[in-house]
Parts: sequence; C-alpha cells; structure tokens
Amino acid sequence: MSFLIGEKMTGGYGGADILHDCTIAADQGEIAVIVGPNGAGKSTAMKAVFGMLNIHSGRVMLDGEDITALTPQARVAKGMAFVPQTSNVFPTMSVEENLEMGAFLRRDNIQETIDQVYELFPILGDKRRQNAGELSGGQRQQVAVGRALMTQPKVLMLDEPTAGVSPIVMDELFDRIIEVARTGISILMVEQNARQALDIADKGYVLVQGRNRYTDTGQALMNNPDVRKSFLGG
Ligand SMILES: Nc1ncnc2c1ncn2[C@@H]1O[C@H](COP(=O)(O)OP(=O)(O)O)[C@@H](O)[C@H]1O
Ligand SMILES: [Mg+2]
Repeated sequence: MSFLIGEKMTGGYGGADILHDCTIAADQGEIAVIVGPNGAGKSTAMKAVFGMLNIHSGRVMLDGEDITALTPQARVAKGMAFVPQTSNVFPTMSVEENLEMGAFLRRDNIQETIDQVYELFPILGDKRRQNAGELSGGQRQQVAVGRALMTQPKVLMLDEPTAGVSPIVMDELFDRIIEVARTGISILMVEQNARQALDIADKGYVLVQGRNRYTDTGQALMNNPDVRKSFLGG
C-alpha cells in the first residue's frame, strides 16, 4: 500500500456526488500527478484527501493509518501539507511572515526551516521583507510552497502550482519540486500543464468526471496514444 492513498473515494459537496470510486496515491519520495479536463474533480479529490470534503465511501490512509475521520488540521499534525489552487498566500503579509504563519503548529525553532526554504527559493530570501502580494505569480507560488514546507511535512499536496506562470518559471518550479521529492517527501500534484507534469511524474492519474480513467507511470501515460489524443493535445 502507498504511503498516502485516497482509496475508492465517493462524495461531493452535499449535492450529487462529484467523486466516484476515485483513487489517488503517492509513495515516499514519489511525484504523483493528477491531470484531466476542467471540472473533472481534480481539486475535489485533493480536498477529499486533505479532509476538506466528506466522503461517504472509501478511505484515506497515511503511513498505514486510517485518517478518513480526521480534520485538515489534524492531518497537518500527521505530516500533510496542502497548497490550494487559489488564495494560497497572505498578500498583505511579508514573505517571511507568510513562512512563519506556515509554522503555526510548531513549538520548536523554525529558523532552520526558514533558511532551508530560502535555500530552495533564493529569491524569497532576497524579498523576505516584501509583501507577498507584490511578488510575481511565480514568486507567490514559491511562497505558497515554502509556507507548506514550514510544517516539515511528509506529504506535500499541490493544486496547480504553475497556474498562470511562464514556461520558464514552470520548469524552474518543477525542478524545485523534484528536489523536494528527493528529500523523501511524497508529492501529490494537480496540473493543467499535463505534458510537462507527467514528464516529471513517477505516477500519473487521468481523472474524468470524478472517476479514474487512466493510471500508469508518467512515461507510459505520455506514450499512450489515447491519452495523448484526448488529454495531451495530440
Ligand atoms: N465548493 C463547491 N461546491 C459545489 N460544487 C463544487 C464546488 N467546487 C467544485 N464543485 C463542482 O465539482 C466539480 C469538480 O470541480 P473541481 O474539483 O474544481 O474540478 P477540477 O479541479 O478538475 O477542475 C465541478 O462540477 C464543480 O462545479
Ligand atoms: Mg481544480
């Protein structure tokens, strides 16, 4: 069984179900990528794994423990971090204050982790006193990822971290995400830039209408003619 798994999740926002028997998972040090059309339920699946949505069947397991009933905050305490698709920084707070906010659950010294974030994203160190809202889109996403890393998570969940950034900035961010995965953290990531994301993915999921359509290695999905034609633009 995977380190993190949302298994056969069915549920929604109170009305009709959005997810149907949906399974997504990531192992330690692995990058798992979720792709699929708009409205497929990718963000909903992430929220379900993080506990922001009630599923009425299926379960979420972390390191062998059933965490289905836990609140998001309790999941953070267990080692999960989630960067949502929107509103993922505090725009009127400085970069460093954003990082400090990320560590709100910790009682130990957080300076070392702040330094690690600045090592990973040097531009954030340069701009530590600047308000996050004044940064470029790519830099704001770095703040969001950095803030999530402040809890020293075992699992990092990212919902469209490269939304609205240039191809060069996207490549850079993916390189940093690979670096994070190499430290042993599991990455579960939703991406619109499906091709580029599957290229760095150990494992990929194609979701359609809340269901798993294809599940395979990133490379196999990229080489699958049906996946290419329908989801990767040919
Ligand atoms: N907060 C919400 N309340 C009710 N329905 C929602 C909410 N968020 C998303 N949905 C619906 O759930 C479906 C899947 O949305 P979403 O998970 O955001 O898709 P994706 O991230 O793949 O684009 C859509 O039909 C969307 O309208
Ligand atoms: Mg989404």
